[in-house]
Amino acid sequence: SANAMWGGRFSAGPDAIMEAINASIGYDQRMARQDIEGSRAHAAMLAATGVITDSDADAIREGLLTVLSEIEKGEFQFSTALEDIHMNVEARLKEIVGEPAGRLHTARSRNDQVATDFKLWVRGQMDAAIEGLTALVRALLSQAEMGADWVMPGFTHLQTAQPVTWGHHMMAYVEMFGRDISRFEDARKRMNECPLGSAALAGTSFPIDRHMTAEALGFDRPTANSLDAVADRDFALEFLSASTLTAMHLSRLAEELVIWSSAQFRFVRMSDKWSTGSSIMPQKRNPDAAELLRAKIGRIMGASVGLMTVMKGLPLAYSKDMQEDKEQVFDAADNLMLGLAAMTGMVSDMEGQRENLEAAAASGFSTATDLADWLVRALNMPFRDAHHVTGSLVAMAEGKGCDLPDLSLEEMQSVHDAITSEVFDVLGVHNSVASRTSYGGTAPSEVRKQIARWTEKLA
Ligand code: ARG
Repeated sequence: SANAMWGGRFSAGPDAIMEAINASIGYDQRMARQDIEGSRAHAAMLAATGVITDSDADAIREGLLTVLSEIEKGEFQFSTALEDIHMNVEARLKEIVGEPAGRLHTARSRNDQVATDFKLWVRGQMDAAIEGLTALVRALLSQAEMGADWVMPGFTHLQTAQPVTWGHHMMAYVEMFGRDISRFEDARKRMNECPLGSAALAGTSFPIDRHMTAEALGFDRPTANSLDAVADRDFALEFLSASTLTAMHLSRLAEELVIWSSAQFRFVRMSDKWSTGSSIMPQKRNPDAAELLRAKIGRIMGASVGLMTVMKGLPLAYSKDMQEDKEQVFDAADNLMLGLAAMTGMVSDMEGQRENLEAAAASGFSTATDLADWLVRALNMPFRDAHHVTGSLVAMAEGKGCDLPDLSLEEMQSVHDAITSEVFDVLGVHNSVASRTSYGGTAPSEVRKQIARWTEKLA
């Protein structure tokens, strides 16, 4: 039989396959709360502007609360024939309150309704992402505080470069996740305009008050163009691209944890809570959570590319293609929140291995740059020459199988006779990091300033 919501001109119902491809209720039921919130605001506005009576609006608003509680209790019977959450809710409302339910859809279409619901849902996820990122930043800050002066090797090309501090390394991620927070905040500001009342695409001839519904739903203002309002999914795409960047940062940190927790590095010990064993190799403590985090970007970025591809060729205004927006965003959001929580847990519970870090910091000629800088400062050598002299000293040490501080003064002087014993002061890793006091540098004093700045920012 024909559809009860829009079947007036139809004499037959849809093919079963048509129903299956058309229905979104299997997933858009996740927006039930937002749908009901939007409908309640719409009904109140319709009464305030005299489009429907107060008693109809009251019946609708009450009835919608009943529907919501049925859904939350898991008692609601979702129907695929009713396609989506919007029509499922309205049909049930009709069973509960009767005739007034049919007045709810005045001056509204599912196009502005779904845009409003989805915006409310995505906005909630932006807030959740900001919250999750803030928790992660706090966990990184406490690691940074604890190890502000622990020395470790800093790498470029994953080859030992110069000594840095554990605190400095943690704070690098604080900067990255801090930018992610600002991206979600920024996207949230831009998207916070209410589509409701744009109706199907052209607006409505009813004397509605879009400012009222916008305010009731926590939006800053109504959208300014009804065609754009029902055709826009930028807000979802911005959520996905901010999520992709966050996932990329999570993945980089995860990769470091995988490397650092290996027997060859032993920079960090992951907590049992975040490790798994092997069914054959009894010694194993695998960093599975970190590995999965490294992989999560695949589906999150996939969602971003997927939705961009859905949208790119659509003429204005709404097309049914846009129904394919939700599953990708839901999946990306779920995995992002899970990833943020897992990373926060791993970072909070991991134990940096201070002694191993310091031993590693001293190997690999990590203070060669300090030596070259000393030649510049103490002997007024041009940096290029100092670089060359230092290179010869590194080659000498490498040939002897020792580190730079293990060379004798005589050996050093055989490369350049003006070198004095003061050079040994700069060859130690602690002196090296302590000397890097330029703004944003790795010196513990600088790192502590950045920790204080972030702590204040989050307070
Ligand atoms: N289920 C639809 C969606 O998710 C709701 C909007 C339907 N609008 C329409 N004109 N058929 O996009």
